[in-house]
Amino acid sequence: MLLRVRNLKKVYPNGTQALKGINLEVREGEFVGIMGPSGSGKSTLLHIIGGLDKPTEGEVFLFGKDITKMSEDELAEFRKRRIAYIFQFYYLLEDFTVLENLLIIAEMVGIKDKERKAKEILEFLRLSHRLNHKPYQLSGGEQQRVAIGRALITEPKLILADEPTGNVDTQESFRIFELFKKLNKGGITFVVATHDENLKGFFRRIVKLRDGKVEEEITQPQ
Ligand SMILES: Nc1ncnc2c1ncn2[C@@H]1O[C@H](COP(=O)(O)OP(=O)(O)O)[C@@H](O)[C@H]1O
Ligand SMILES: [Mg+2]
Repeated sequence: MLLRVRNLKKVYPNGTQALKGINLEVREGEFVGIMGPSGSGKSTLLHIIGGLDKPTEGEVFLFGKDITKMSEDELAEFRKRRIAYIFQFYYLLEDFTVLENLLIIAEMVGIKDKERKAKEILEFLRLSHRLNHKPYQLSGGEQQRVAIGRALITEPKLILADEPTGNVDTQESFRIFELFKKLNKGGITFVVATHDENLKGFFRRIVKLRDGKVEEEITQPQ
C-alpha cells in the first residue's frame, strides 16, 4: 500500500473540525479522485497527506512510514523525489523563465542531467516554444503545465494535486487530465482533489467527502 490514512482528524485552532476521522488507502499505480463540495475537507486532507500540515489525531503511512511522526527536516528529506504537489494557483517563480523554473527545482532535489530532462518534460507538456518566457507571458493553462513540469522534474512516485484545473477553462482542464492519465500509465500514482463534476469520468476510484467524512467510495468501470 502506497498510502494508508487511519482515523485522521483535523481541528483548526479556531475550532473548525475539518476532518472527522478519515480512513483511506491508495495502492501504487492508482488514479484516485477526492471529490466533494467546497469546505468538505479536500484541501486539508491533501495537505496532511503531503506533509504540509499536521493532523490533530490519526496516522498517515506513506511508503510504509508514518509521516505524522517525522520532524520538519525528516519530512522535507522524505518528500524529495517521492511526492510532488500541484496547486490551483501555480506558485511559479515569477522572475524566472519557464526553463529556469524547472532547473531550480531540479537543482534543489539533486537531479542529474537536469537541462536535458527539463527540456524533454517541457516538450512532453507542449511548452518547447515557451522555454524563455516568464510566467506572466503565459496563459493559465500554460502556467499550470509549467507547474506540472516542476512536479515531474523531481521524478515523483506520487503526485498530489489540489484543484489543479480550478483556474483554467473546461477544454484545458480535460487536456491536463489527459496528461495526468498518461503519466499515471507511466507509473506515477495520483491523488487529485476536485469539486468539478465534469472531471468525474477520469477517475477509476472516487472518494467522496462531505463535512469532513468519507461519504462514499465509488469505483467506476473504465
Ligand atoms: N487554516 C484554516 N483555519 C481554519 N479553518 C480552516 C482552515 N482551512 C480550512 N478551514 C475550514 O476547514 C473546512 C475544510 O476546508 P478545506 O479543507 O479547505 O475544504 P475543501 O478543500 O474541500 O474546500 C472548511 O470549513 C474550512 O472553512
Ligand atoms: Mg480546497
